[in-house]
Amino acid sequence: MRQILVTSALPYANGPIHLGHLVEYIQTDIWVRAMKAQGHQVTYVCADDAHGTAIMLKAKENGVSPEEQIATVKASHETDFVKFLIDFDNYYSTHSEENREFSEQIYQRLKSRGHISTQDVEQLFDPEAGLFLADRFVKGECPKCQATEQYGDNCEVCGTTYNATELKNPYSTLSGATPVLKTSEHYFFNLPDFEEFLQKWTHEEGRLQESINNKLQEWFDTGLAKWDISRDAPYFGFKIPDTEDKYFYVWLDAPVGYMASFKNLCERTEGLNFDDYWLAENANKTELYHFIGKDIVYFHALFWPAMLEGSNYRTPNGIFSHGFLTVNGKKMSKSRGTFIQASTYIEHLSPEYLRYYFASKLSDKVEDINLDLEDFMQKVNSDLVGKVVNIASRSAGFIVKKYDGKLSEQCIEPELVADIVRTGDEIATAYENREFSRAMRLIMQCADKANEYIDSKKPWALAKEEGTEQEVQDVCSVAINIFRQLMVYLAPVLPELTNNAKAFLNIDELSFASRHELLLGHQINKFKPLMQRIEQSQIEAMIEASKQSLQSNEKQADKNTDETNTDDFISIDDFAKVEMTVAKVLACNHVEGADKLLQFSLDVGEDKPRNVFSGIRKFYEPEQLQGKKVICVTNLAPRKMKFGVSEGMILSAGDPKTGLVVITLPEEAKVGDKLA
Ligand code: 2FM
Ligand code: ZN
Repeated sequence: MRQILVTSALPYANGPIHLGHLVEYIQTDIWVRAMKAQGHQVTYVCADDAHGTAIMLKAKENGVSPEEQIATVKASHETDFVKFLIDFDNYYSTHSEENREFSEQIYQRLKSRGHISTQDVEQLFDPEAGLFLADRFVKGECPKCQATEQYGDNCEVCGTTYNATELKNPYSTLSGATPVLKTSEHYFFNLPDFEEFLQKWTHEEGRLQESINNKLQEWFDTGLAKWDISRDAPYFGFKIPDTEDKYFYVWLDAPVGYMASFKNLCERTEGLNFDDYWLAENANKTELYHFIGKDIVYFHALFWPAMLEGSNYRTPNGIFSHGFLTVNGKKMSKSRGTFIQASTYIEHLSPEYLRYYFASKLSDKVEDINLDLEDFMQKVNSDLVGKVVNIASRSAGFIVKKYDGKLSEQCIEPELVADIVRTGDEIATAYENREFSRAMRLIMQCADKANEYIDSKKPWALAKEEGTEQEVQDVCSVAINIFRQLMVYLAPVLPELTNNAKAFLNIDELSFASRHELLLGHQINKFKPLMQRIEQSQIEAMIEASKQSLQSNEKQADKNTDETNTDDFISIDDFAKVEMTVAKVLACNHVEGADKLLQFSLDVGEDKPRNVFSGIRKFYEPEQLQGKKVICVTNLAPRKMKFGVSEGMILSAGDPKTGLVVITLPEEAKVGDKLA
């Protein structure tokens, strides 16, 4: 019996679980269940990733303490996971004493071996919020193409990557203030010390997928850099030992959370011993696997093994990366209603539909997977309802009604049954190799064989003939036996359905080994429908609900934590919220020191004029706009800029690079009127 510890990546404690996250939890859960069904001792742990600036700010925004914030989110994550039948052996938090101890211990060990250094770092600092600004909290003009409103790490318009300090006219997205440069001392983990180790480690059999290794090679070629593991106060996390105001960067203690969650489980589980799974000297006794998304490979395949190696812990046997989820072939989108939260999905559809669909798409590759909602409905209906469940529903009735629920004493199709048993070996291998789509195909081939068999024997017709009593019972018994085998094969994917099938079949277990046993002369129970078809209306309702649930939600949700969480449209409802008011230009002037801006004083029909900056200087002389009627967006939050506060936005059309035209209205337009 193998002893295996498995993890999924820890979700951030600042937002809800959505279908994009679920790809990974479902993938891992299926693998864990399949390995357990093989008789291995498998432990599956996870936790909320609770630290960092984003969570600290989220708590502030919600008016609660970070501790309250992470407790609420953890509870909602756990509820979602239970609903999707994700069966963690432990679900913990990185904000725990165990995690503090391991993080400090690993750090101290690395330090005592000379793998930690310090260095001054100059960074943008928000003087108003009193914080150093991570890249995602500063915006400005791209130093290359001048596009406005670009984040501090790279330009979404021209794709250039740069340092936040290179942005032109930067402002803090937290307060609107102009950031200042400030120096502070940072702590670094000397990753280059582990270059040789990592080169070898990453290439060892089974550790990483090939495409991941290709990506890593690029990083090796560029050269590994020291990793900045400290953040200055204020920060929500663990203080670095022997410092006043330095904290471990969230990504330092996040993977340590795997150990902490496991330790926490060991503390209350007899026979589960932490050291067996984590000490370097026990690396051959037990196995460790991490399932992750392709976006966090750097942390798991470089930093993490180096940290473990440098602190005398064992390293993982394998890191399994998956791709991102698209819905209907596109990035998940709030306006299209395809940004679907777990809690929204579950109000409309069964979790097992999604588990099966993901299984039918997942392989051992790092490819993105697509949830095509039309295909989803068809596949679930035709495979699970039409093929699998149908085998039982068309045979059980005869057995229950005509034979008091008793199956035949003999099996009249030993070859067919043996064939399905043999396929089980291939299915087991496919599961273990994470080739779930192959496993699902093999299972459906078995289901096809069973249905062809039933079609060829036509028990419903036989039953009407004289002297066929035994044959009808025999045929239906073969079908029920194959159905039981299919339940064994599908159990990792469909735990609820197969559990209900156990009750119907009157059996106790669905371990992989049990597929060899035939149910002969066995009593079964009345058949109840095991799964409903998906209706188009359910999908439509889910999409509609997703659109609505997001209208009240924050726009800029967690850009830092979530690749898929951006949107390319605003909804019509959001557009309706924009208040456009007819305004008269009372004054228009150049702005000293700003070569892109014009400053306006606008009469929008209020007590006093509004001050508005607009980036159109390249295209207009002030006098051209003096006295004109224009359209002003009047319900934007005032924005603090370097030259003053802008209290609105003047509508113009065109391309800021090549030419903008201010939209002007005829003289008769009435100041203060709102545009519908
Ligand atoms: O990318 C993320 O969502 C991180 N919260 C994953 C952390 S995984 C592990 F290292 F903790
Ligand atoms: Zn650019």
